[in-house]
Amino acid sequence: MKKEAFFWKLQDNILDKENKQTLIKFIQSTDRFTQFEEVKKFEKEWSAWQGRKYSVFVNSGSSAILVIISALKEYYKWDKDTEIIVPAITWITDISVLLQLDLKPVFVDVNLDDFSFDYDDLKSKITTKTKAIFLTHLIGFPADINKVKTIIGKKKIHLIEDCCESPGATVSRKKVGNHGLVSLFSFYWGHHMTTVEGGMICTDNKKLYHLFLLKRSHGLARELPKKLHQYYKNKHKDIDFNFLFLTNGFNVRNTELNAVLGSSQLKKLDEYIEKRNKTYDTFSNIISKYPAYLFTPTSGGISSFSLPFILKKQYIKNRLQKFLIKNGIETRPIIGGNLLRQPFLKAEFKNNGFPHAEFLHKNAFYIGNNQFVDTIKLRRLKDLLDIFFTTPKYISYE
Ligand SMILES: Cc1ncc(COP(=O)(O)O)c(C=O)c1O
Repeated sequence: MKKEAFFWKLQDNILDKENKQTLIKFIQSTDRFTQFEEVKKFEKEWSAWQGRKYSVFVNSGSSAILVIISALKEYYKWDKDTEIIVPAITWITDISVLLQLDLKPVFVDVNLDDFSFDYDDLKSKITTKTKAIFLTHLIGFPADINKVKTIIGKKKIHLIEDCCESPGATVSRKKVGNHGLVSLFSFYWGHHMTTVEGGMICTDNKKLYHLFLLKRSHGLARELPKKLHQYYKNKHKDIDFNFLFLTNGFNVRNTELNAVLGSSQLKKLDEYIEKRNKTYDTFSNIISKYPAYLFTPTSGGISSFSLPFILKKQYIKNRLQKFLIKNGIETRPIIGGNLLRQPFLKAEFKNNGFPHAEFLHKNAFYIGNNQFVDTIKLRRLKDLLDIFFTTPKYISYE
């Protein structure tokens, strides 16, 4: 019998038989596929899991960013001089939305312990124009929110948490996404759980919640909770309530199908996180054999997204990445690497003063972590690393 080639993908098929059966049953039982009761049900379940009052389901994590930033801009009357602090390494749409909405991203270097802000650099970048800190809990590692809050002190600076890569990670035993004004999650295929495409916005602030509902769907008044309808009907008697627009919105709704998948996947999210974290522990153990060459963060409260390799020497990183790819293991940079190197940002922002982002750009990459990483894969990884780090042609400088 032919031996199957070894292949460690970033993500495998995360939708299991039960998820598919649930979806099939739903399709056979309904005539309503656009946003309706299943979306509301999934939002309620997500709020309960997350521990936040309000959740708004949208069609991607990036749409969640768009809705959040445009709502905050409107609600707090942010003008074009408003500065929003962002890390030099995060997902690109955290930045693009700010530019699209005419706000100023102020880049802060990252740190090598939890991949969030370099906290000294963060402190130095806050000005009187800073209105929000948009932090990212990167690839499963929770940012040190307590430090960020100490830096904010009594200043009126809002905290937005991007939790797309770290649902269920904790800081001081509290889930990420519950420490600031608003947070967001992605349910894209490669994430901890999936709705194929999808994103969630979470907050405890009722007024912002209402604005998120409006922004999600054209600005339509009828998107608001029913008990508010009469108030707006009375206020705008000259306009048919069915098409009454209260703000400039988008259409970034998701569908009943995606919500059904969300509810079905959510039941297993805790189990997935536990499995991912166990794999991360084994991975840390495997690479701890080579402290002269590489390291990986060891901070607590993680919800592992991927398995990062941070090499002390760039040439070894290049060789190791190639070696793993050649041996059937998919790799990626640490998200977009140092974003200040990306073509459309390079033209506008100077890549000056981001040594850690530069280091991660050049010396780091990750491989996939998910519930399908088994002992066979981990053993193979261990064997490959043993071969790599004991072979002079890979590790000697020439
Ligand atoms: C940290 C982070 N933020 C935002 C997003 C955007 O989510 P989506 O791909 O659902 O638009 C991603 C996506 O991978 C992400 O990793």
